[in-house]
Amino acid sequence: MKTPYEILGAEGVQQLACAFYDAMDELPEVRGIRAMHAQDLTDVKQKLSDYLTGWMGGPSLYQAKQGTVCLTEPHKPYSIGPEETEQWLLCFNKALEKIAASDELKQMLEQPIKRIAAAVQNRQHALASKDDPNIIASC
Ligand code: HEM
Repeated sequence: MKTPYEILGAEGVQQLACAFYDAMDELPEVRGIRAMHAQDLTDVKQKLSDYLTGWMGGPSLYQAKQGTVCLTEPHKPYSIGPEETEQWLLCFNKALEKIAASDELKQMLEQPIKRIAAAVQNRQHALASKDDPNIIASC
């Protein structure tokens, strides 16, 4: 059985990472996580591409450049709860569509990508909505 990297190739993984951050820039539903990122997405696009390359069975580019594959640490400064994880996964699914990934590849990635997203999540509950009638306004 081929690895996702063998299916996509180096260029395909790069296209996926670019399509991912393009989706983050374009989709109104993911404004929340877009706001956590720098204005210029060039660096993080490259980092995601490097990370996914190794994760999908290709050369360990992220490990070689960053000295680790641990993603918990770089995500610590951000409050990532269930909605943020959903938004991230939405971008990932849009990116897979954009690069016309096969159903086989989508199926291969579906559970494993959800597992990393769950590992990166560092807040288990949703934030209380301002509009929630059970919240007593403090202002
Ligand atoms: C679960 C929801 C997630 C949120 C809200 C999120 C958000 C972020 C943010 C705000 C950054 C910093 C960007 C910047 O410097 O401008 C970042 C970096 C990064 N994210 Fe995520 N992320 C999530 C999940 C993931 C997942 C599942 C992966 C991998 C498959 C991933 C891979 C990366 C990588 C490789 C970096 C760069 C880390 C570094 O600085 O070395 N993220 N993410």
